[in-house]
Amino acid sequence: MSLLALFSLFALTASSLAQTNTTFTLRSWTEAYALANATVAQLTLAEKIGLVTGVGQFNSRCVGNVSPVPRLGIPGLCLNDGPAGVRPTKGVSGFPPGIAAASTFSRRLMRARGVALAEEFRGKGINVHLGPAMDLMRNPKAGRGWESFGADPYLNGEGAFETITGIQSVGVMACAKHFIANNQEHWRYGLIADVDDRTLHEMYYYPFLRSIEANVSSVMCSYNQFNGTSACHNANLIGPNGLLRRDGFQGFVVSDWGATHDSASDNANAGLDMEQPGDDIFIGGGVFNGFLGIGSLTSDVNSGSVPPARLDQMVARILAAWYRLGQDSGYPAVNFNAQHSDGSGSLNLNVSVRSDAHTALSREIAAASAVLLKNTAGAPGLPLNNAALKRVAIIGQDALIPNLNCGDSNQCNDGTVTIGWGSGSNSLLFTVPPITALNQTFTGAGAVVTTSLTNDLTAGPKAAQGQDVAIVFVNAMSGELGAYQIVDGNEGDRNDLELWFSGSTLVQNVAAVCKNTIVVVHSVGPVHMPWTTNPNITAIVYAGAPGEQTGPGLVDVLLGTVNPSGRIPFSIADDETSYGTTIVTDPGFPLGFPVVNYTEKLLVDYRYMDANNITPRFEFGFGLSYTTFAYSDLAISSSDTSQMISFTVKNNGTVAGTEIPQLYLGYPHSAGEPPKVLRGFDDILLGPGASQQVVMTLAQREMSIWDTPTQSWVRPSGTFSVFVGASSRDIRLNGSF
Ligand SMILES: *[C@@H]1O[C@H](CO)[C@@H](O)[C@H](O)[C@H]1NC(C)=O
Ligand SMILES: *[C@@H]1O[C@H](CO)[C@@H](O)[C@H](O)[C@H]1NC(C)=O
Ligand SMILES: *[C@@H]1O[C@H](CO)[C@@H](O)[C@H](O)[C@H]1NC(C)=O
Ligand SMILES: *[C@@H]1O[C@H](CO)[C@@H](O)[C@H](O)[C@H]1NC(C)=O
Ligand SMILES: *[C@@H]1O[C@H](CO)[C@@H](O)[C@H](O)[C@H]1NC(C)=O
Ligand SMILES: *[C@@H]1O[C@H](CO)[C@@H](O)[C@H](O)[C@H]1NC(C)=O
Ligand SMILES: *[C@@H]1O[C@H](CO)[C@@H](O)[C@H](O)[C@H]1NC(C)=O
Ligand SMILES: *[C@@H]1O[C@H](CO)[C@@H](O)[C@H](O)[C@H]1NC(C)=O
Ligand SMILES: *[C@@H]1O[C@H](CO)[C@@H](O)[C@H](O)[C@H]1NC(C)=O
Repeated sequence: MSLLALFSLFALTASSLAQTNTTFTLRSWTEAYALANATVAQLTLAEKIGLVTGVGQFNSRCVGNVSPVPRLGIPGLCLNDGPAGVRPTKGVSGFPPGIAAASTFSRRLMRARGVALAEEFRGKGINVHLGPAMDLMRNPKAGRGWESFGADPYLNGEGAFETITGIQSVGVMACAKHFIANNQEHWRYGLIADVDDRTLHEMYYYPFLRSIEANVSSVMCSYNQFNGTSACHNANLIGPNGLLRRDGFQGFVVSDWGATHDSASDNANAGLDMEQPGDDIFIGGGVFNGFLGIGSLTSDVNSGSVPPARLDQMVARILAAWYRLGQDSGYPAVNFNAQHSDGSGSLNLNVSVRSDAHTALSREIAAASAVLLKNTAGAPGLPLNNAALKRVAIIGQDALIPNLNCGDSNQCNDGTVTIGWGSGSNSLLFTVPPITALNQTFTGAGAVVTTSLTNDLTAGPKAAQGQDVAIVFVNAMSGELGAYQIVDGNEGDRNDLELWFSGSTLVQNVAAVCKNTIVVVHSVGPVHMPWTTNPNITAIVYAGAPGEQTGPGLVDVLLGTVNPSGRIPFSIADDETSYGTTIVTDPGFPLGFPVVNYTEKLLVDYRYMDANNITPRFEFGFGLSYTTFAYSDLAISSSDTSQMISFTVKNNGTVAGTEIPQLYLGYPHSAGEPPKVLRGFDDILLGPGASQQVVMTLAQREMSIWDTPTQSWVRPSGTFSVFVGASSRDIRLNGSF
């Protein structure tokens, strides 16, 4: 059966408004495979090899390309970064990254972000969006943690499902990454992740399982070794009887760029379907050969060490994913050139794919992801009464626009943090920094704005003296290692949890002179905030990594146009030891790559803190509002295969607001699970006095553990506890079944 999906996208070109046609025919996998098989039968060996092999990192029009088969109308498929927007090119939106989507705890916004992202990828002619990332934030310092959906597997799974569903609804292929146990930057090209089978399934694999359920087109195998074998050469992961295929994955497996560390036949026979980028790269401790070259895969097929049927299967999987989303008809051609990110050269057609709707969505997510960590009752504090403000100080380098000519991957951190650095970063060209949005808002209402837009520890408090309010901006950043820079001594992973550039001292110096100090934190993850109880600090907004519309989104929250509803998708504790994991920075012995032993098993973040009676400064799922909510009427009804949990949320305050009710499950003791695990969330918008019944359903798998002996999800017998509340520790209703 063919379903006709109709979508339309309005895209701005450099000079005029153009409409990109996003009509496509969605096919079933069976229909797509029938077409793919028929095409494979017509291909020569060279054409087949060309479809599974990157054309070379430095010749590629996109971040990755394979060769076209013009005689059959098959384009050179374009695979491109990044998970938060098209890069490196111009005329695109800088969407908020995955961690911001997670902070909204809103499936609606997660999916809308996927749709908008993919409209821009499609508009640029990109076949495969290299995202979403779903690597659990196992350690808070992990360099690329912000690309994914935080520290909980269920939240990552829902983020992955919604994002992929959104992306593929516009006919763009998504790529679930990085498979698997890709949780730190140090030694990533070959570290040996030692993860037991149960932990693997319940924590790191779970988001990939949800991706398969979203019919994801492709999965990217990671740089590291898993269980002693490179992920891209690991049949237990990607082979015919490996995890992905066991669970019904029908698309193709593509290597991360340079993640093929073994021979062409090793990789192909293990289950790798496409190699990228197609040439030798040498970065930080390894030569990568992939299918190197095209010649070696060809000779492996000719010699029989890769069976011809296996090569056919590789090609069929790639083409089936392409046919399934109807990319064989009416798909835009590539109109940019990643080799010239400045837009130069004749291959850059300078097509802008931005739209007002995308800008509005970025702003909405920026505001919805902001987490109000502290607010004093009544004035001062938030929201600000703009009409009454006469004198405002804005302090800190983080309020400023960053250097927009800082390589292609945001490696400077000399202004506001909207996203981390590396291949998951995006174009910053249209960033509206806090200073611009705030200054316009306050001066527009007649206030006098004083600034100190550096982290100078004397000038900051001087600017704050005698002001009605001082708004201090501080930040911390991390990113991808590899070919990217080491930023301020941080090799991808952060060195520590401190705010950068003496941020904490700046906050404390300002608070020492101003009784109405409001702190805005832009960060890729948890930071140490020893000053949160200082009474002169009347409000703290953890604005995270909000993307290009950072300034307008923040104004919405500070003025109360948007009532904050963001929740932290990780816990904020004072030190790394509270999290129970470390980043392994020492090399392995005698040389080469270290073992990273996932001995904490299921106890990551709040699960570890709950199990060890550690009280974080702010717990997973925490976030305040300008109104208050009351919970009541918990009801639990059971069937053989599911549990229905219902309850009522009432806005018992005076302004409209969105509550994020969360459902945590406590397993029977014998199950060996953490004290509680997230199993549901919702975003409920309520006017003052209004209430709504919320229903959450637990499917059988969500009440199961992964049982290694039987290799299956098994629901333990015994009594389960139900915790419903406003965070992982603010439990308002208790029940059991
Ligand atoms: C495609 O070809 C493969 C390999 O021969 C076969 O297993 C599969 O059933 C075929 N699919 C369809 C839909 O024809
Ligand atoms: C690790 O490898 C061993 C030996 O091949 C295998 O028995 C075991 O199932 C693997 N573990 C996982 C989690 O894949
Ligand atoms: C995935 O594809 C199958 C078969 O084509 C379909 O039944 C199912 O609804 C799809 N799932 C989603 C989430 O789109
Ligand atoms: C959009 O593309 C579809 C499929 O290629 C085609 O049938 C349709 O006529 C196109 N619509 C417009 C408005 O160009
Ligand atoms: C695109 O813009 C760049 C930079 O302004 C310019 O050098 C180039 O010629 C433009 N390309 C086209 C096709 O207009
Ligand atoms: C703030 O806005 C005023 C009025 O437009 C302008 O004069 C001033 O330069 C702005 N300050 C900053 C730091 O942008
Ligand atoms: C709060 O600010 C006032 C100045 O307005 C200062 O005298 C006092 O010491 C500050 N308190 C703290 C705890 O910093
Ligand atoms: C990892 O830790 C477990 C549990 O402590 C231990 O059994 C295993 O040998 C360790 N593996 C490595 C490679 O150190
Ligand atoms: C709203 O409900 C909460 C939780 O029951 C309660 O603590 C708070 O006092 C209530 N607020 C008002 C204004 O009634």
